[in-house]
Order: sequence, then structure tokens, then C-alpha cells
Amino acid sequence: AKVHHHTWDIAYRYKTLDCVEKLAVTINGESPGPTIHATQGDTIVVTVHNKLETENTGIHWHGIRQIRSPWADGVVGVTQCPILPGDTFTYRFVVDRPGTYFYHAHYGMQRVAGLDGMLVVSAPDGVAEPFTYDEERTVLLMDWWHKSVYEQAVGLASDPLKFVGEPQSLLINGRGVFEPFHCSRAPNGSSDAACNVPRPAGCAPPTLFTAVPGKTYRLRVGSLTSLSALNFAIEGHSMTVVEADGYYVRPVVVDSLFIYSGESYSVLVKADQDPSRNYWAASHVVARERNTTSAMAILSYAGNDPRAPPPTPRPEGPAWDDVRPRVEQSRSLAVAHPDHVLPVPPRADRALLLLNTQNRIGGHTKWAINGVSLAFPSTPYLVSMKRGLQGAYDARPPPETYDYRSYDIAKPPPAANGTVASAVYRLALGSVVDLVLQNTVALNNRSETHPWHLHGHDFWVLAYGDGKFDPERDTARFNLRDPVMKNTVALHPKGWTAVRFVADNPGVWLFHCHIEAHVYMGMAVVFEEGVDKVGRLPKSIMGCGRSRTLP
Ligand code: C2O
Ligand code: CU
Repeated sequence: AKVHHHTWDIAYRYKTLDCVEKLAVTINGESPGPTIHATQGDTIVVTVHNKLETENTGIHWHGIRQIRSPWADGVVGVTQCPILPGDTFTYRFVVDRPGTYFYHAHYGMQRVAGLDGMLVVSAPDGVAEPFTYDEERTVLLMDWWHKSVYEQAVGLASDPLKFVGEPQSLLINGRGVFEPFHCSRAPNGSSDAACNVPRPAGCAPPTLFTAVPGKTYRLRVGSLTSLSALNFAIEGHSMTVVEADGYYVRPVVVDSLFIYSGESYSVLVKADQDPSRNYWAASHVVARERNTTSAMAILSYAGNDPRAPPPTPRPEGPAWDDVRPRVEQSRSLAVAHPDHVLPVPPRADRALLLLNTQNRIGGHTKWAINGVSLAFPSTPYLVSMKRGLQGAYDARPPPETYDYRSYDIAKPPPAANGTVASAVYRLALGSVVDLVLQNTVALNNRSETHPWHLHGHDFWVLAYGDGKFDPERDTARFNLRDPVMKNTVALHPKGWTAVRFVADNPGVWLFHCHIEAHVYMGMAVVFEEGVDKVGRLPKSIMGCGRSRTLP
């Protein structure tokens, strides 16, 4: 196995990602950052220099379980102190499973500023995958705001709440075209005023890649949006879904792919269309009213001008508010071959029923789980729990369930029923845990889609249900035969999602909605398991809060 060393300078730079110049947090001058490539079993070492001048940072390796290295998970307040401006921190971890993963900032809402990228782990040479292809490409989907991360965060913490609003643009591999610069260039030459707007150099839909006719491409598609759920499609080309979050799935052919923040998929695309023209690859907002122009990129065929816009109008995408095909896609995923994964433990030792509500707490709008909105403590949990620091977080455990018999999920929660706390669920090492996420409506009476991501583990996705989960009735309907394993799962509007995992990774792990505004408003819980089995903590993760004075 190899060791891959990377050295990153993290700094603000003026970038023009969507034809509008704006500050972005960059890695060695780039946003998104470079794709990290490695092979299963390799070690990745990233030395991070924080050159942000006035801002802390921390970097999370999304989808990497950090077995025996829980201090490298990069979550400020959970597994480490912030990396201060001027400081250097080294992440060192093993990538133990092939798959399509990410990295991104995990400090406040800093991901919004563009500090992210992909991490691709290949299967070792000679190990066959359950499908074949000629070449692979990465496709990173993002959404993008012109307001700074500070304006967004302060707005969310204000009374009344100033919401971040819909993104100004969507980006494909870090490039997009802000609406005023969009020129539809209709096929019959009818002119569009926007086509005459003077545009900055390079302001045009990017080329996704150039395809050779007859070849099959594996696209590793990932979403690190801060808010938006997306639909991704390539005009005229169907896609075969073969991997989700690092696990091979039973192949499903789709015309378009719904993808939520924190999810990754591999899709196979065959270059089997008329090669004399180019095609649109598009990402569209779904699940929230579509007020953002869809992102367009160009799938080119060899021999054509790779930047030539396709002769067809820009695709419109599916209706944003049609939930049914989204739930259907979620339910259609199954493991490729049951032998490829561990069998599902037949029953859970413990089940947590987690109700997601939006609450008014102390004059602020928050998200809460069973009435508790998570506040990150100033001392990272991993340090305070491992070293037994008393009083560094709220010791009273959060509720395991909510009053599911009488609770009405069609109504916002009654006033004044939430608290802000830094409490933790403590799990027995090796125990089997069920998490059932229950959705409801927010204070505006709408029910949103929340992509939930678990650190340190993968889970089996046992069921998606409509309405209210009933433990007596619905536990019997869990799919224990061929559920897919994932690390991020959608909680659909007014529905519930059930997952199961084994708490076998000593450490302290965050489980949260992957929408930046939501986790910032407290939509997260923390699990601890076997912290006494964690090896000696590196000094480099300490230095803040009550860990300042530790020997
Ligand atoms: Cu991709 Cu806790 O995040
Ligand atoms: Cu959410």
C-alpha cells in the first residue's frame, strides 16, 4: 500500500466560478480543490496550512470511516480543536474501502465558501468490480451563493431569522453561469438579449468531458451542495447506477439521477448517440421551489468543438415538487450482491426514533432532534470524553424517542418545547443500533428533504416510509434481505427513513443533516462508542476550551 502526501494552503482568493467574481476558500488557489486519488488500503497524509488570516478551519473526509484514527475525522468541536489561522495540522488516515468519497470543511458553515473536493478510492489491481467501463471521470455538483459565509451564518442566527435564500447558481465541477449571463442560443438562431451581455473571460458552460463514440464511461457523481437537492441528467443518454456511497448496487437504468448533498453515485454512460453534435449535461434543483437557473455542462463527442453548445434548447429537468420519483429512486436501490457486504444483523439492540423539528428556542429559529438542538462545545467531545473532563458538555442524555402516538407531524411543533444542548448518545461498543428519522413540517408548514450523514460508519438502509413511523407496524417491514449500505440517506418530506448500523468504531461521531444551514441551526446528534478503546490522542487536536491545559 502506498502513502500519498499532499500539502494544502487554505486561503481566500477571488474566484469567478459562475461568471461573478467572489471570494472563495481555496486549496492551493483552487475551488473546488483537487481530486485525491488512492487505492484501497493506501494511507493519505494531508498537511493543511491555514492561511485564512481571520478564520479557523477543519477538514472532514466524508465517507472514510477513520477506523483507529477517530481524531482525523476533521469535525471541529467533535474530533478536534479548530486549526487556527497561521497553524498547520496534519491528517493521516487509511482508505480501507474502494468508492467515491469527498472532503470538505467542517467548521461552522465554511463549506459554503467552496472548500471541498472529491476523494476517489480505486479497487486494487486485479480485483474485479461487478461491472466494466473504459474510462472514468468525476462530476462534483455544488450550489453557490454570492453572499459570504459570514453574512449567511449571521443571518441564520438573527432574530428574526434571515434565511440564506436560494443559491445564485449551481456548479458542475466548480463552474456555472449566473442567470444574467445565460444565453439560451435557441437552435433556430432566435436571438436572446442575454447573448449580447458582455461576459467575463471563460464565462460559458464548461465541458464535462469529451467522449469517444462507443466507449463506456464511469461517472463518479457526487453532490456537496449546501442546500439544494438535485437532479442530474445527460441529454439523450441513459445512465446505469452501479455504486452508491462506496457500495456496489444492483444496476438500475435511469434517465436522470436524483442526488442529495453528501451522496455519491457511480453511473455508467455509453457514448452511443449521434457523434456529430454535443449534448447538455444538466443539474436542476428539486425538492425546493426552483429559483436557481439549472447548471449546464457540455458532453462533447471527439472531433467536435468541445465548447460548442448543443443544438437543442437547455433541458428543463423534472418538476421540482414531484416527490414520487424521488422516493421511488431511493427505494429502487439494493445491494449488488448480498455476499459483497456483511449480512444485516437480524435485530437491533437499541432503537432511536429521531423526530426532526424546527423550533423557536430563546428567540432564535433552530432545528432540533427530539427537542434538542445541538450546540458544539468549545472542547471537542473526543478529548473531553476520552480524558474524562467533567462539565465540558451536557451530561444529561438526549431523549431516545418522541411521543409518536399523539404527535401530529402535519403541524409545526408547539411553541417553547425545545432546548439547546451539547448532549451525546452513548452506545455500547459493538451494539446494533437502529435510527429512525421522522420528518415533519417546518414553521412555514412545509416539509423539506433532509439528507442525513453518519460519520465513522456505513449503515444499512432498511426502509423509507410515508407519514408517521409506527414501531409495532413498520419494524416488521424492514428490508433485511438486500438493503444497500450508505453513509448518507434522504429523509423525504412528511416521511420516515430507517437505517441500522453496528457501533463498532471507537470514537465520537456526528450524525447530521448535510444541509449547511440546518446543521448550523442544530440539526445533528452525536454518538459515542468505546471511547476508552481509542488510542492515545494526538496533542495536535487539543489546545481549545478545557483541553488547553491538558498534559
Ligand atoms: Cu460531509 Cu459531517 O459531513
Ligand atoms: Cu436538513
